[in-house]
Amino acid sequence: MRGVVALALVAACASDPGPVTPPRGRFPAVPTPVANPTTAAKVELGRLLFHDPLLSRDRRVACATCHGQIWGLSDGLARSVGVDGIGPAGTGRHGPNVTRRNASTLWNAAYRATLFWDGRADSLEAQALAPLRDPAEMGRDPDEVARDLAAIPAYVSLFRAAFANEAAPVTSANMVRAIAAFERTLVSDYAPYDRYVDGDTGALDARATRGLRLFEALRCGQCHTAPMFESERYETSFVEAVSGVTDEGRYEVTGDPADRGRYRVPTLRNAGETFPYFHNGAVRELGDAVALEAAPRPGGRALTPAERDDVVAFLRAGLTDMHAQPERPDVVPSGLMVPADGYRIPR
Ligand code: HEC
Ligand code: HEC
Repeated sequence: MRGVVALALVAACASDPGPVTPPRGRFPAVPTPVANPTTAAKVELGRLLFHDPLLSRDRRVACATCHGQIWGLSDGLARSVGVDGIGPAGTGRHGPNVTRRNASTLWNAAYRATLFWDGRADSLEAQALAPLRDPAEMGRDPDEVARDLAAIPAYVSLFRAAFANEAAPVTSANMVRAIAAFERTLVSDYAPYDRYVDGDTGALDARATRGLRLFEALRCGQCHTAPMFESERYETSFVEAVSGVTDEGRYEVTGDPADRGRYRVPTLRNAGETFPYFHNGAVRELGDAVALEAAPRPGGRALTPAERDDVVAFLRAGLTDMHAQPERPDVVPSGLMVPADGYRIPR
């Protein structure tokens, strides 16, 4: 019987190559802390918490407000708008509480040893407490949120399923563990560039291929290093400061004057989705961001408009992969409204 099945499989393989399984060899496995192994139950709880505005003081802001699906897991704003904001998530949202920086994309945040533009957090678990406590973002005491969650039966069973061997699992520590487990699923690792590198030369068209060659010739990869197209480096920013905003970059973490005005090298994966650009969101168009970066960087030079467009074609067509886009829940256990997804202004 077994032999027949095996033969049938061999025959099937010979005629039909079947679905292509993306080789994920060049990307390392997602680093996961021993104290917080990723499980399906935790990821599901994390996904609901991530979209639940119960976590904010005004009960209207969720993590997803500033890290939304249609905005490249960012928010389309130069600088984010937190509690008491007006309008749905995305461009057009405004309000009294504007953060001082552009919302980082969460694509591949799972791989980062340091988080934030200045690298001040060193794990997703630790990071998640920051927006909760930040009065301009969510403005709530995490333990107070945990007490609210413990009063919602659906959350209690979700926490029990995710942290099965704990007597009292509904804690702020487990809340951020679940959110971090969810964030570890937000991996973008199989874009047309990866297929190209795997030998499928048709994966990039002529323009995108020229853009890739230029990207290499200009040595963008010194900092935006493949395969992640980012690095744990803090480098000079060439973008103009926003008036009235004090931001000293990495210096705020290290106190080293050499780090003044330096920021972590962001990923260029899904950069076509994560506009506006740079730590303060001062540049709206990807082409302008590329032009700004090309000239002053070591190995770089001023680009002609055609060259700039080629690099943009490579970034857009070559580095976009959103296969792991998370599903936005229609309802969350608190019964509060999942923040509206906003809209894309026709561009
Ligand atoms: C009001 C908007 C806002 C909300 C709400 C918000 N964030 Fe953020 N997030 C930001 C901004 C802005 C940054 C960059 C801040 C900085 O670098 O100082 C950021 C950065 C991050 C980063 C760092 C990513 C990286 O690669 O460096 C992670 C992770 C993150 N947020 C997760 C979350 C989670 C989880 C929640 C919910 C608990 C959340 N955020 C809620 C705006 C927001
Ligand atoms: C010496 C390191 C370095 C080199 C080389 C470099 N970059 Fe950057 N890049 C950075 C840093 C740091 C930032 C963030 C600066 C900021 O936010 O102010 C950045 C930001 C960007 C952004 C904005 C991304 C976002 O999400 O905000 C783009 C696009 C970009 N670089 C493209 C390029 C291109 C194209 C090249 C080659 C022409 C290049 N970079 C070369 C360090 C570098």
